[in-house]
Amino acid sequence: MGGRRKFIKHSLLSTLAGIPLAGNAGSLQTFRKEEKTVKNFTPQVLSTWNHGMPANDKAWEVLNSGGTIVDAVEQGVMVTENDLSNLSVGLQGLPDREGIVTLDASIMKGDGSCGSVAFVRQVKHPITLARKVMEKTPHVMLAGEGARLFAISEGMPIEQEELSPKAREAYMRWKENAKYQPVINIENHDTIGMVGMDENGAMAGSCTTSGLAYKMHGRVGDSPIIGAGLFVDEEVGAATATGLGEEVIRICGAFLIVELMRQGRTPQEACEEAVKRAVSKSKDIDNTQIGFLALNKEGEFGAFAIRPGFNFARHHGQGKSLTDARSWYK
Ligand code: GLY
Repeated sequence: MGGRRKFIKHSLLSTLAGIPLAGNAGSLQTFRKEEKTVKNFTPQVLSTWNHGMPANDKAWEVLNSGGTIVDAVEQGVMVTENDLSNLSVGLQGLPDREGIVTLDASIMKGDGSCGSVAFVRQVKHPITLARKVMEKTPHVMLAGEGARLFAISEGMPIEQEELSPKAREAYMRWKENAKYQPVINIENHDTIGMVGMDENGAMAGSCTTSGLAYKMHGRVGDSPIIGAGLFVDEEVGAATATGLGEEVIRICGAFLIVELMRQGRTPQEACEEAVKRAVSKSKDIDNTQIGFLALNKEGEFGAFAIRPGFNFARHHGQGKSLTDARSWYK
C-alpha cells in the first residue's frame, strides 16, 4: 500500500512538473488506473420528460442498493414501459397505422457494449430484451420477428396483442380523419431516454419507445439506433434523444453530441449545436420537435430542444429536479 501511495505521489509530481514518467508503458497504464480510482465522480441519472421522475426514482434506488449503472438504467425505464397511462412507451403506447404496437429500445455501456431491438411486438420490456442482445448474442441489434423469437428463447413472457383502452380510443379517433398520416407529437411526452453515472465514473444509457404514433408498419425510429437515440462513451459522456426519430437519425444526434463533448464542448453547448444541425437539415421544421439530453464525465449536464415543452428529470446525491429545457424557438 505504502509503495502504491509513493508511486501515485511520484507520478503526480512528475506529471505536474512536466517530467516524463520514469519506467515503461506498463507504469503509465498503472498510473492511469490509479488516477481513475482517486478521482471524484458525481453519481446521477437523467431522463427525458417528466415520466423520467419515477423512472429516475427507481434507477437511483437500484444504484443505492448496490446495483450497477446498467441495472439502474434498465430498471429505471422499465417503470415507464409498465406505466399504463403512457402512450409513447411500452405496449400500452399508440399503435402504427395498421393498429399494431411495435417497440424500439436500446441500451449501452460506457465501454462500448450495446444492444438494441427494433420493430418488436408483444414484448413488455424491450429494454430487457435489448440488454439480453448486448449480453447474450454476438450481435448489436435484433429486429421484428427475430427479436420476438429471441425473447421467447430467453423465457420472456409474450403478451396478448391488444391495444390498451386509451390507445384504442385514440386510434379510433385518429382513424376518422387520419388520411393515413402519422402524428408528430410536438409538445408532450415521447420516448424515455436515460443516461447515468455511478460513483466510480461508470456510465450507461437506455432508450425505449413505442415510436411515432400511427407510423407506417415497419417504421423504426432513432431509439434503437446506437449513435442516433443513444450513445455512451465513458471516456467522455453520454447523450440521448427524444422526438421525431427521422430528424435525429439524419444527424446521428447522440453520437454527434458525445463527439462534440470530446472536442471540448460542454453538454449544453453540444446539445445546442446538435439541435442547430437538425434544424438546418430538417425537411419539415414546422412539424418537428426533438430534444437532446447529455451528461459528461465531469458530471455536467445539458439539454436543448427545437421548440418549448421538452423537460428532463435529474436525480443526484443532493436530491432531484424536473427542469424545462431551453429551445431553438422561443
Ligand atoms: N424518438 C422516437 C421515435 O421517433 O420513434
